[in-house]
Amino acid sequence: MEVKRIIQERRSLRSLEPFEVTQELIYDLAESASLAPSCFNNQPWRFIFTYDQNILKELYTALTPRNNWAYKSPLIVTVFTKDELDCQIKGRNYALLDTGMAVGFMLLRATELGLIAHPIAGYDEEKVKKILNIPEDMTAILLIVFGKQAKEINPNLSEEQKERELKRPERLPIKDFVYFNKYR
Ligand SMILES: Cc1cc2nc3c(=O)[nH]c(=O)nc-3n(C[C@H](O)[C@H](O)[C@H](O)COP(=O)(O)O)c2cc1C
Repeated sequence: MEVKRIIQERRSLRSLEPFEVTQELIYDLAESASLAPSCFNNQPWRFIFTYDQNILKELYTALTPRNNWAYKSPLIVTVFTKDELDCQIKGRNYALLDTGMAVGFMLLRATELGLIAHPIAGYDEEKVKKILNIPEDMTAILLIVFGKQAKEINPNLSEEQKERELKRPERLPIKDFVYFNKYR
């Protein structure tokens, strides 16, 4: 599959089914993320792959109620970092940017492997850090909820969420975020 098609295929769907999580999959996703560019090749991203049923159940309790569709996920990746792990150039901190690029690579690879990888920010960060023993000075910036796309739409979703299963949310028109040659 070529990159453009994977980009178009990637969706943050919420009708998920469990799948078998293998070490091979974890290493594949981690390696794909690690090939992202980063400032000075600092690689500031850190990932916890949680697949242990008991720890997953604890993680579910840290999610906001609107993210209860994630309870069927057999694999949640917690993404964390801190500014000190990457370039800090006169107020420009690159850790979150570079970590985001690595996440992008992981999402695309997951799509290529036929998986849904749904990023979420709706969770209690302190709770997640406590459950996973993430050091206090690090930011747990994202969880990625993995699943297989279910055949049926999850009946527990809100009407808006159900609609989004069928149709990708609209994007800004190109003219609203692209500038030619200068901002003005
Ligand atoms: C940083 C970030 C936070 C998000 N948080 C949530 C969330 O808490 N719950 C949720 O259902 N989706 C969440 N999403 C998914 C977005 O809603 C989704 O990516 C967006 O609507 C575009 O849809 P698409 O990814 O299917 O193209 C998040 C995505 C990102 C990148």
